[in-house]
Amino acid sequence: MTDAAADLVPPRDKRASSPPAYFSCWDLHAYYGESYIVQGIGFDIREGQILALLGRNGAGKTSTLRTIARVGSPELRHGEIWLDHKPLHQMKSHEAARNGVGLVPEDRRIIPGLTVEENLQLAQIAEPKGWSFERIYDAFPRLGERRRQDGVTLSGGEQQMLAIARALARDVKLLLLDEPYEGLAPVIVQEIEKILKGVRELGITAIIVEQNAVAALQLADRAIILDMGEVVYEGAAKDVLENEDLRHEYLAI
Ligand SMILES: Nc1ncnc2c1ncn2[C@@H]1O[C@H](COP(=O)(O)OP(=O)(O)OP(=O)(O)O)[C@@H](O)[C@H]1O
Ligand SMILES: [Mg+2]
Repeated sequence: MTDAAADLVPPRDKRASSPPAYFSCWDLHAYYGESYIVQGIGFDIREGQILALLGRNGAGKTSTLRTIARVGSPELRHGEIWLDHKPLHQMKSHEAARNGVGLVPEDRRIIPGLTVEENLQLAQIAEPKGWSFERIYDAFPRLGERRRQDGVTLSGGEQQMLAIARALARDVKLLLLDEPYEGLAPVIVQEIEKILKGVRELGITAIIVEQNAVAALQLADRAIILDMGEVVYEGAAKDVLENEDLRHEYLAI
């Protein structure tokens, strides 16, 4: 079989009788050196859905996002990850990015010494491109106003907007948001929430990790709760919002 043909083979296992989900990962095992952290995680996401990935501190949320984005640490040693029929588990991070994975890391990684616009240009160096600058500035007017300003001089909320905009500047198929509301004042959180609702309206598939579980659940369709590197609950976001026992046990809210 050629590589191109191999790309089209649907994920094996019991799902073989139904079409593969848009995003699917299963039996992921990932390590930082000898530290075994991601312990058999798996889930599916339908196209256009938003998944809230929740759990207490240290549950493995960031590690799961990093595993999916193929950043290399933690190291994936077992399991498969498929996005739109493409085997992410066989890719390095730049290939995963080219195939539509957009990781917005917790620390936002705005590049110092570059303006807002240069940060966006850098995202567009490699094909395939996503949103034009015009469209980005339309959706994020504050970034338009500050486009000649050094990115690291922006406020926390504006840096978060830039980090999201940078992902949209690529042709993103799966947006991975790690604590997008962290450290932001409530009024700014509302602004970012509005942006993410817009992203949802556009039908962009996403995973959101948030300490602010209620905010994440209000945005999401489905939810997964992790504990000790394993999935302990999977269901509709609204069921988690309504399930007080579950929230107490795993989310401390
Ligand atoms: N670079 C690393 N090397 C070794 N262990 C790590 C590393 N990064 C994280 N860990 C460990 O992996 C586990 C999961 O961490 P992770 O950051 O994925 O959790 P999290 O759910 O994102 O937590 P938080 O809510 O605090 O962000 C923790 O026990 C953590 O100490
Ligand atoms: Mg984390």
